[in-house]
Amino acid sequence: MKLVSAIIRKEKLNDVLTALFDAEIYGVTVSKVQGHGGETEQVETYRGATVKMELSEKVRLDIGVTESFLERAVQTILASARTGEVGDGKVFVIPLEKVYRIRTGEKDARAVTPVLVGG
Ligand SMILES: Nc1ncnc2c1ncn2[C@@H]1O[C@H](COP(=O)(O)OP(=O)(O)OP(=O)(O)O)[C@@H](O)[C@H]1O
Ligand SMILES: [Mg+2]
Repeated sequence: MKLVSAIIRKEKLNDVLTALFDAEIYGVTVSKVQGHGGETEQVETYRGATVKMELSEKVRLDIGVTESFLERAVQTILASARTGEVGDGKVFVIPLEKVYRIRTGEKDARAVTPVLVGG
């Protein structure tokens, strides 16, 4: 299993959530975050040149997936979050040791796969 942790533009959140839903990826955590993408701007200070680090508001999506959903999740985010301009964000793929569903005590693959109500 992997945790797909994507930092995206907040303006792209709806597009990405819709694309994930269409790809049958339903479980997601959304957080507001602040970040910096490495772009630096030189500013003058009384002690000489320094570097200005302005934080921008971004959104983070965290999605736990089994290996069979990993490529689909990543490609869906890459396609739906992209504008082509600097600052589109990043996708991190992190090893995921254990997942438990609290209600049932199920773990791992059985716990990350959503239960469709009425399905
Ligand atoms: N190395 C990193 N580690 C953690 N978070 C990062 C890293 N790089 C970027 N981020 C996060 O992603 C957000 C968007 O970064 P950004 O899109 O500028 O990445 P980038 O790699 O510089 O791409 P681009 O070339 O399009 O600017 C940042 O505000 C920050 O929250
Ligand atoms: Mg950047």
